[in-house]
Amino acid sequence: MGMNRQIWYDGRFIAWEDATVHVLAQSIQRGSLAFDYVSVYDTERGAAIFRLPDHLARLIRTCEIMGLPLEQDLDTLIGACIETVRANPGSHSIRICAVLASIEPDVVPIDPHLSIYIAAYDTVSDIIGSRPYERRPNVALKIEREKAGRREDIIPPNAKIAASYTAPMTAKWRARKEGFDDVLLLDEAGWVTEAPTANIFVVKNGALHTPPGSKVVLGVTRRSVMRIAIDAGIEVIEDDLAVDDLRAADELFLTATSAGVWPVLRLDQDIVGNGDVGALTTSLRSTYRKVVTGQDERYREWLTYTD
Ligand SMILES: Cc1ncc(COP(=O)(O)O)c(C=O)c1O
Repeated sequence: MGMNRQIWYDGRFIAWEDATVHVLAQSIQRGSLAFDYVSVYDTERGAAIFRLPDHLARLIRTCEIMGLPLEQDLDTLIGACIETVRANPGSHSIRICAVLASIEPDVVPIDPHLSIYIAAYDTVSDIIGSRPYERRPNVALKIEREKAGRREDIIPPNAKIAASYTAPMTAKWRARKEGFDDVLLLDEAGWVTEAPTANIFVVKNGALHTPPGSKVVLGVTRRSVMRIAIDAGIEVIEDDLAVDDLRAADELFLTATSAGVWPVLRLDQDIVGNGDVGALTTSLRSTYRKVVTGQDERYREWLTYTD
């Protein structure tokens, strides 16, 4: 896995297998690793990173929310990501990790240095390898009624930090054993929030509905799809959604860097809409695909070309 890959670490490159931290490191013990995940697409003009400044701005915001002392500014991080993609040909993903790597006696570290690791790789060849792994083209989604969503009083939902993923992991693991692909997390009051690593959209009477930004990780794909929809004259409404709104949906889809626009065809035991991928989902998915691969001039500024 990751053979011959170079990882950017605090301003220099190290080998993939050397990008390790101690098991007692603060971030491992306390779940304080902040991160972001970005896609790299093959385009006619070579490898292009999708909305890199927006992803890095989200990482910077996560560090601000959580009080993590990030030492690098946006321009340094942009340059580092471009360099890392160049150093790792054939990459389709970038993962930027901010880690409190020192061994600490308490939750507040004596050594506040936040190490930055940037990995650029291909998920299939470098991460999955020969292990069994399947992502179905359409999703069967289980509604997670237990308090497994992000709670404002524990970690603000906008922060993309490792500890936020523990409860969703447990819920999704259980759902997988029941034959679902993913879970949809509700907040304490029962409103819909998001899936563990994706935002949700409802299509109803030709309009798009999605939960408010205050309740979710602010997905870059979410924002892109909203902009594409608005530009196409589609109404987009950010508002609280109840489970019943999902049940009454004409179409449902998830959005995420790793999956793009991902149709949901089953919700708990019910079929969504008429059971097929809907017209608006199909059209947004296809436009999104063109946008990320540089085939739509209108959104070219979202791409950072690296060649
Ligand atoms: C909790 C959560 N919601 C939504 C998303 C989707 O965000 P993006 O579209 O930027 O990948 C992610 C991405 O990893 C996430 O972790």
